[in-house]
Amino acid sequence: MGYKFKNSDYKCNEKIILCFGEDNCSEAVKKLKELNLFNSKIKEIYTLETLNESVEKNIYVGFGNEATDEEIRQSFATAIKKAKAMKYGEYTFCFDDNNKSLDSVKRIVRLLAEACELTLYKFKGYKSDTKDNATENNITFVSNYIEEELIDSLNEGLNIANGVNLARDLGNIPANIMTPQEFSKQAISCGEKYNFSVEIFDKAILEEKGFKSLLAVGQGSHNEPNLAILKYNGAGESGYTAVIGKGVTFDAGGYNLKDSTGITTMKVDMCGGADALGLMCAVASNKLNTNLICLIPLCENLIGADAILPGSVIGTLSGKTVEITNTDAEGRLIMADALYYAASLENVNKIVDIATLTGATAMAFAGVCSSVMTNDQEYYELLNSASKECNEKVWQLPLFDEYKERVVSSIADLRNSGPTRAAGSIVAGMFLKEFVCNKSWLHIDIAGSAVAGVEKNYNPAGVTGYGVRLLYNLLKVSK
Ligand code: BES
Ligand code: ZN
Ligand code: ZN
Repeated sequence: MGYKFKNSDYKCNEKIILCFGEDNCSEAVKKLKELNLFNSKIKEIYTLETLNESVEKNIYVGFGNEATDEEIRQSFATAIKKAKAMKYGEYTFCFDDNNKSLDSVKRIVRLLAEACELTLYKFKGYKSDTKDNATENNITFVSNYIEEELIDSLNEGLNIANGVNLARDLGNIPANIMTPQEFSKQAISCGEKYNFSVEIFDKAILEEKGFKSLLAVGQGSHNEPNLAILKYNGAGESGYTAVIGKGVTFDAGGYNLKDSTGITTMKVDMCGGADALGLMCAVASNKLNTNLICLIPLCENLIGADAILPGSVIGTLSGKTVEITNTDAEGRLIMADALYYAASLENVNKIVDIATLTGATAMAFAGVCSSVMTNDQEYYELLNSASKECNEKVWQLPLFDEYKERVVSSIADLRNSGPTRAAGSIVAGMFLKEFVCNKSWLHIDIAGSAVAGVEKNYNPAGVTGYGVRLLYNLLKVSK
């Protein structure tokens, strides 16, 4: 996508006019006010067509001083979709920024870049006829402020959206292509592009280091497991946040095989890992003042001759033993080793994991929010405030001690699924909690929120990239 800046006397026929702040009585605002179409929280779009005039193709977007970031992003999403439907050649946003402070215009530019990139995202796909994939979108900002004043804000929004769109792509790519090895390759090339370090533990290294639980899940496939370790140092000597993303590139369920409905969408079972990689790209490209390590355990959960059997007992990196009461509860097994590895690193003081972990979360929330569990309530409150800024919603579930008995086995230290399906998401959280060595920890279950059935606002149907902006904001607010 191309971006240009022009000053206020720039002339064009097709434009999206942004009216920001009620006190600003430009022609556009006056017109909207006259028609009683401008109030403090306008989200609708008014076109000259609907106002029954047909001079130029203009779309008016008016929002007042009180508008939230999310309202502004959604307004842009609506405007750009409308412009697309009206077949605008390119998107020209004209700021009505007379008397507006530079800071308020910077905010608009950042949100505009973020919202436009997110809205115009389209998964390329594999159709042999690629003609309509070639369209290049161009966006022009018309403002009294000059490019030099606005470019950093533009780039921050673009870099955040690029991280989200990368996560969307990785999740949308089919599982026969997006194998653990392919994911690792993509991580390496992102590291080169955005300047963060990437190390891949292959099967031999995982064996040497004792990642028994990750290896056990991966042994049912000829595509061997990997652990991708990404590292970014943007805050000197201070401690690291570890973000661990589930990277099951296909979850057939193992010998507790999924049925034909459940199995079809399971290429998305690496969306937590995709979020971690997308987050790292956004953080590194924006040179965030933070220290971040991302761990992405990658494998396939299949039914090869060597696959673990229901009832098997396996070891873990932590030394704890686990009875496999259900091979389809594989996510918590691979996360357990990565969590323990992160928790054992001296310079890691905060741990966040993000995973498409349980059908129970998808059923409970229908994708509207993720469920979150924690051993540190203050850390949860930080996440909750980060969540409000980007509208990636979260809801907390408890980890009461009473649930512990559901992960205790009679023949091993733990079992990987409860005796019944009851409290499925919490049971998974209780299991993971055993591997974080009491460090500050948030567990984010994105089963549901990772994928959408239909497009909504700036999110397309398919993989949403939910989690990248949430964690980006969390890193910004946690010091
Ligand atoms: N990957 C699934 C969870 C999932 C379900 C993600 C639907 C996205 C949409 C996970 O590995 C799984 O199969 N979990 C089981 C656990 C159960 C066997 C204890 C589940 O939730 O049914
Ligand atoms: Zn599973
Ligand atoms: Zn899974």
